[in-house]
Formats: sequence, C-alpha cells, structure tokens
Amino acid sequence: MESKLFPHKHLLSAEQLSADDIHSIFTRTEFFLEFLRSGEKKRNDLSGISVLLAFFENSTRTRVSFEIAAKRLGAEITSFQASASSVSKGESLLDTVWTLEAMHTDILIMRHNHSGAHEFLAPRIKSAIINAGDGQHQHPTQGLLDVFTLKKHFGSIAGKKICLVGDILHSRVIRSNISLLKTLGAEVGVCAPGTLLPRGIEIFGVKQFARTSEAVNWADALNILRIQQERMDSGLLPTLTEFSTYYGISEKYFKNKPELVILHPGPMNRGVEIDSEVADAPQSLILRQVEHGVAVRMAILAILAENLKKNF
Ligand code: NCD
Repeated sequence: MESKLFPHKHLLSAEQLSADDIHSIFTRTEFFLEFLRSGEKKRNDLSGISVLLAFFENSTRTRVSFEIAAKRLGAEITSFQASASSVSKGESLLDTVWTLEAMHTDILIMRHNHSGAHEFLAPRIKSAIINAGDGQHQHPTQGLLDVFTLKKHFGSIAGKKICLVGDILHSRVIRSNISLLKTLGAEVGVCAPGTLLPRGIEIFGVKQFARTSEAVNWADALNILRIQQERMDSGLLPTLTEFSTYYGISEKYFKNKPELVILHPGPMNRGVEIDSEVADAPQSLILRQVEHGVAVRMAILAILAENLKKNF
C-alpha cells in the first residue's frame, strides 16, 4: 500500500498534519487494525529497518505499544534506557543521539521531558524521529489514537463536541488532541480549575467550562486527564479531594446522558479524575484506545519507513 499523502520525514507534532495527512494515516490504521484483529502476528513492512526506542521519561503503554507495533512490522528493535545510560554521567542529548545514530539507526522513537527536544534534534540528525511525548508540548501518536477512536465511534469527527477535562495545563496529549480535532472540524471544549488551564488558552479557539455539569451537557465525548503532580512545583490545587469532588467524572453525569462516551489516555488515577464505575462502564472507550494505539503506530512506522526509502 502506497502513502501518496504525508510528505514528512518525521512525526514531531500533531500541528504539522493536514486533514489529508490525518485521513491517510487513518486509512492505514484501519488496515493494520484488521490485521491485528485477524490474530496474525508478523508482516515485513519494516524488515531491514532499525528502530531505536529512547525513553528519557517513564512510560508503560506508549513504549510497549510502539515496541509491539515495530515488532509486528518486522523491524529490528533496540531499547535504550536513559536512567541506565551515560546521560546520568552528563552527556548531552545531541551527543547521546549522535552516538546511537552512528550504530545505524533508521527510526528514532523518543520521549523526552523537555518541550521541543525533537524539533531541536530533527535538523541535526539523519534518522527519522517520532515524538512519543515531549514535556508539556506534544504527543502526536496519542492524539491520533484518541481521534481515531472517536472517529470509529461516531463515524465522523466534523461537528462533534469533544471536551477535555482535568489537568489541561501540563498535558501534551491535550495540545495534540486540540489541533487534530480542530483540523477535522470538531468543536473542542476544556473544563478545569483556572490554575490548571494554560495562560492564553483563548488562542487555541476552545470553549471553556468552569463547571463539569455544563461541560457534560454540551459534550458528545469527554477526554479525561490525570493530575500531573510530577510537573507541578507548587500547589496548584487546594487538595485532590476537592478536585475530585468538583472535576472528577462520576456515574451521576451519565444519568441524563447515557450516550456520552469517555476516553482517558492513561495512566488513570481511579477515584481522582475518574471513578471506577465510569472507567469500566460500557461508555468507556479506554481499552479501545489502547488497541487502536498499536494500529496507529504501525501506520506511522510503515509510512515513515516508505518515506525513508524514497530519501525524504
Ligand atoms: C500520557 C503522557 O505520558 O503524556 N500518557 C500516555 O502517553 N498514554 C498522559 C500522562 O502521563 O498523564
């Protein structure tokens, strides 16, 4: 299968993707989803391609999902553990990546705690880069898998009302979601206490809700985010109990709106931003997101590998 659209060497940010790019990724994703569901395990789209997973920040689902996606496509995979590497001896990011590249890496899948780390590296290295999350900036494959999941559920994204609830300030997932949803014509809302909204949120062109009940009345779907305490240097919230009372999503919100669906990128903090009854309800698309994540990442890897062969 040829990818005629998507003329990119790297996947750095959801903002670089046009509606045509997104549709071309989703067509591939559908194809790979069928392959995964068929129970088959191995293709050879990435045979001869060397993929390096470099995670400078913790991850469960994103790292495993990329690893499975690359394996299913027949890539040769190496995993680099930042905590056990020379980074802890003071080596710079660029020196680390140049060293790894000298071992002939074709695709670098990287997560880094600094916003913009991938954009800094892209013009300085030979490999294709996939951004698996940079600081509070972008997480394009998570955004793609969230929007793909919504598209599978609703049939189309245009005109749908999607509200992002919780810690908007620290979320890279949200920045990728907003840009993809708006590119595909959705209406986007955010619902959070003022201290967890970025300054200048108006420029994103989103609707703001201070009360969860109003957000629920408005929305067709909620994408729920955890509180990222590891990125807070001062108390932006009085207490977690207070957050959970006013912004946590509990069963009561579904009483008048049983058709409302929910997403969560994980990891979840049950009882804080989401109650167990909601996480495990039929309206929850959370495990569907995880399944779709592997197919989305297979699509991105296959497209970038083809572009590499064309010397992009
Ligand atoms: C998110 C991340 O790391 O940005 N999780 C993920 O990749 N599935 C969200 C989070 O850490 O809360």
